[in-house]
Amino acid sequence: MIGLARREELLKELGLPYRVCDVSDTEAFAVLLADVEREHGRIDILANNAGVGEMAPFEDSTIDDYRAMLETNFFAAVAGTLQVLPGMRTRRSGVIVNVSSDAARAPEPGNGAYSSSKAALSAFTESISYEVESFGVRVHVLYPAWVPTAMGQGAVDDEAMPLPPKAVRRTAEQVSKLLLDKMGGPVIAINASKLPMVAGIARTIFERGYRYGIKRAFWER
Ligand SMILES: NC(=O)c1ccc[n+]([C@@H]2O[C@H](COP(=O)([O-])OP(=O)(O)OC[C@H]3O[C@@H](n4cnc5c(N)ncnc54)[C@H](OP(=O)(O)O)[C@@H]3O)[C@@H](O)[C@H]2O)c1
Repeated sequence: MIGLARREELLKELGLPYRVCDVSDTEAFAVLLADVEREHGRIDILANNAGVGEMAPFEDSTIDDYRAMLETNFFAAVAGTLQVLPGMRTRRSGVIVNVSSDAARAPEPGNGAYSSSKAALSAFTESISYEVESFGVRVHVLYPAWVPTAMGQGAVDDEAMPLPPKAVRRTAEQVSKLLLDKMGGPVIAINASKLPMVAGIARTIFERGYRYGIKRAFWER
């Protein structure tokens, strides 16, 4: 297993081999993956987990804020997938996990850039899942629910996101275990919590009530 991120001091703490890389530089990311493939002979599993998120009212965001978020949250995963797929196809085996978010399917106000980036990632993953299964490759989209990481806890502490209900709170260990259980299996979308799936149905059937609830929770507190 090889860890990859920008901050070397944190990578060192993993006690694993690692590479320092900013995946938003998609060319550098692809070159690095090619190096890893050459060095180790193959990449069996690629987990596109790198992500950034910052809540901001739409009017305060620039087009460059959107581009920056999509570079890390979406284009990096596309670049990584394109890089590892040929080898996986030749070997007729491999797994790619793209870490999305419930913000993709239940977007909240003030989260336009993040929600769009994750919606793109989910749609990309689901679309290619049909194409790659014929060559023995599995792609998954992981919905981790809410996890109190730097990003998850930071959104609650610093960005005024309401603490999600208990049914949506998960630990990093729970999500990791779920992923290890499901990875490579037949299910494409791996859901750490069922509640956001219900939200999607509620949004379709009871749109006005759903919007009222979301506005109260996120916007008009
Ligand atoms: N926490 C949640 O509640 C939650 C919910 C839904 C989805 N997610 C998703 O889960 C994934 C992991 O997030 P997390 O909660 O663990 O957040 P986190 O604690 O902020 O971790 C994000 C990780 O991504 C790396 N990263 C960010 N930008 C990068 C870049 N340009 N190049 C390389 N690495 C980069 C960071 O390392 P460096 O900063 O050192 O590069 C860090 O290791 C993300 O995709 C996030 O969107 C999280």
